[in-house]
Amino acid sequence: MQRILVWDLPTRLFHWILALSFAAAWLTSESDVWLSLHVFVGYVMLGLLGFRLIWGFVGGHYARLAAFHFSPKAGLAYLRESLAGRAVRHIGHNPAGSQAIYLLLALVLVIAISGILTLGGEEQHGVVAGWLDIKAASLFKDIHEAGATFMLFVVGGHIAAVLLESLLHKENLARSMLTGTKLAPSGTTASRPYPVMAVTLLLALAGFALWWFSYALQGTVPAGIDAQRPTVAFVGAPLAKNALWNDECGSCHLSFHPSLLPARSWQALLSRQEQHFGADLGLDSATTATLLGYARNNAADKQRTEAAFKIGASVPASAVPLRISETPYWVKKHRGVTAAEWALPWIKSRANCEACHLDAQAATFEDGAMRIPRSAPAAKTL
Ligand code: HEC
Ligand code: HEC
Repeated sequence: MQRILVWDLPTRLFHWILALSFAAAWLTSESDVWLSLHVFVGYVMLGLLGFRLIWGFVGGHYARLAAFHFSPKAGLAYLRESLAGRAVRHIGHNPAGSQAIYLLLALVLVIAISGILTLGGEEQHGVVAGWLDIKAASLFKDIHEAGATFMLFVVGGHIAAVLLESLLHKENLARSMLTGTKLAPSGTTASRPYPVMAVTLLLALAGFALWWFSYALQGTVPAGIDAQRPTVAFVGAPLAKNALWNDECGSCHLSFHPSLLPARSWQALLSRQEQHFGADLGLDSATTATLLGYARNNAADKQRTEAAFKIGASVPASAVPLRISETPYWVKKHRGVTAAEWALPWIKSRANCEACHLDAQAATFEDGAMRIPRSAPAAKTL
């Protein structure tokens, strides 16, 4: 017996980065605050899948798909023999392990695609933003979650099988996946390490991470978010701005972005601007027309932020709400805020969006930018 290289470097990197990504995806799955990280590791897993398929044809001897081409029947038989304690030792992947790999790769594909569709439909983010409505997205969300749960079971089964095999053949298989080596009879084909490919893989990963966390999110994170939350907020592309709108509508309260109400609501608000919640806005007709044009073009019906999309969808076609805070979606989302919280002196009004939403100016209303302030905000220094 001699120690030979079985798992080439790229295969080992693939294995451990996939394992870490899967763990990270689970840990970040419940909180939208970590959504940017969740989506990042999702893309990493999809990229790894693509790499592994190619590596299955051109990679190291034991990494090639041809080296572990077994039928599901052979896989089951191997599992039975293992449990009976008489399975033969394989230097490369055994038939049961091969089935687990096929299954895991297929699951990565299903989970990644359904995740991208969920992100596009529910959060209005990513490459398919705006392709789906919320209803269609919820179907893919179910698939995404069921796929992830199933994958967790397969991973659990995989780990149990590695332990069983390790005991059965008295070798540490997990360590082999780290060092790449195994004891084998002399004359057994050894793999090659492929260091250049390994470095390329790591560089591609580092490059993607750099792009994702700087360039891709750059300029879209409203000022203040990073300082106030030690997390990476997932924030979409900035919405259209209009200086006249900000001037005329931003002196008494936040200049609510037009994407927060349907066009007909802005029409109604501006047509009775002399009775604006007890105030007279005193706008001349030319200004009103300009403001209305901007509001119409950027109303909830036109915008693809999650907030715009969901507010628009929640308002019945016959209703013309004059307040954002009266739209069904808004009411549903804020049910959890208590009367005591609304009464806090630094909040006071439901219309005081920016008290709790750090990105209220940008109108993206990402979950990652939301918190109920427990104490008075620090006085602004001029
Ligand atoms: C003179 C002050 C003033 C100006 C200027 C003003 N508003 Fe208002 N606006 C108010 C007041 C007061 C309220 C009620 C706030 C509250 O309920 O806390 C209000 C509420 C609103 C609301 C409802 C917020 C909610 O509860 O969802 C909208 C929408 C709105 N304004 C739009 C506009 C637009 C658009 C403009 C510019 C064309 C504008 N406002 C300019 C005083 C003003
Ligand atoms: C007292 C703090 C507070 C104020 C003021 C407030 N919100 Fe919120 N907002 C919240 C909380 C809490 C949630 C719930 C987040 C969750 O679902 O867990 C929320 C959720 C939302 C969401 C859904 C975000 C998502 O992606 O799920 C939108 C959109 C939103 N708020 C818009 C507004 C607008 C527009 C205003 C002003 C008219 C406003 N909010 C005022 C606290 C506030």
